[in-house]
Amino acid sequence: MAKRPALNSSARGGAGRKRPLKLVSPPGEKPDARTTADHPSRWHRPNTRTIVVASGKGGVGKSNLAANLAVALGERGARVLLVDADLAQASLDLLLGLHPRYDLQHVLDGEKSLEDICLDGPQNVTLVPATSGAPELAELDDYRRECLLRGLGNLDRQTDILLIDTASGLSRQVTQLCLAADDVLVVTTPEMPAFADAYGLIKLLRQQGLGRPPQLLVNLAGSPEEAEETAHRIRLVARRFLSLEIESLGYVLFDPSVGRAVRLQQPVVIAFPHSPAAIAFRALAERLWEPVDPEAGRRPLVPQKLEA
Ligand SMILES: Nc1ncnc2c1ncn2[C@@H]1O[C@H](COP(=O)(O)OP(=O)(O)OP(=O)(O)O)[C@@H](O)[C@H]1O
Ligand SMILES: [Mg+2]
Repeated sequence: MAKRPALNSSARGGAGRKRPLKLVSPPGEKPDARTTADHPSRWHRPNTRTIVVASGKGGVGKSNLAANLAVALGERGARVLLVDADLAQASLDLLLGLHPRYDLQHVLDGEKSLEDICLDGPQNVTLVPATSGAPELAELDDYRRECLLRGLGNLDRQTDILLIDTASGLSRQVTQLCLAADDVLVVTTPEMPAFADAYGLIKLLRQQGLGRPPQLLVNLAGSPEEAEETAHRIRLVARRFLSLEIESLGYVLFDPSVGRAVRLQQPVVIAFPHSPAAIAFRALAERLWEPVDPEAGRRPLVPQKLEA
């Protein structure tokens, strides 16, 4: 097995911009989220790749990963629409140092359009912010979730990657978003509860018919060996008990720079671009995104095939 490099950013954008565009109600047909042809986020956006970040257990680093990966992808030239789908406990705005006036709650209440609430973040990242402390938003019904996905697909802006951060837990909200995605990035730490919950999520998604196996990222590991051992174990049990070949995207080690950057309300890839975590986030972006292909003259949409 080839040795993987540790996963490995820096500028800020302007203020929010506005253009009205309402959520689009779904037409009569009932979509099957598992077929790419009828992928909710592709109904109006065939060239956008949707990546959902999920975990099972909370506090494993999903939101930091989503924010930093978005910025690192932006540095590579990708146009990223970053969606905070942790609707009740949002944090991406804080992690990016953005101050939304409106958020998804206003959209779901019918007061604002999705376009109204979009904020320009660093490196061409556009944030669709959510709210904090709104438990009633934790579980959207299927209709509202579908409207939201369709609305995201209809936003009038060029997007290469739709990156969605989710809440912890195995709620229907999370699993439905995963089932609608092109790629699911499952985050775990080496600790047994996180490991067990990550496996539980993968199992549930498998039972619910996830088309493509999820990809794994180990965060908060103490050493490369510990991270690789964690990835190896989860790959092993998924292969043995679920007949699934999980792809490992690598790891981000525990790095105090992450906490320092959080306190500065900046992504670590911007605040401490040479820190181990920033380097790891950039390496992850590199694995997921190939910049403009000069031959073809366009951005390849399929992520690089990675060695496990
Ligand atoms: N690689 C890392 N090194 C050090 N600290 C980290 C790292 N990744 C995340 N953290 C810290 O771990 C904590 C949890 O991170 P984060 O909020 O991103 O997790 P989460 O999975 O989104 O949590 P939740 O499930 O509550 O949404 C934060 O305090 C963050 O600063
Ligand atoms: Mg989070």
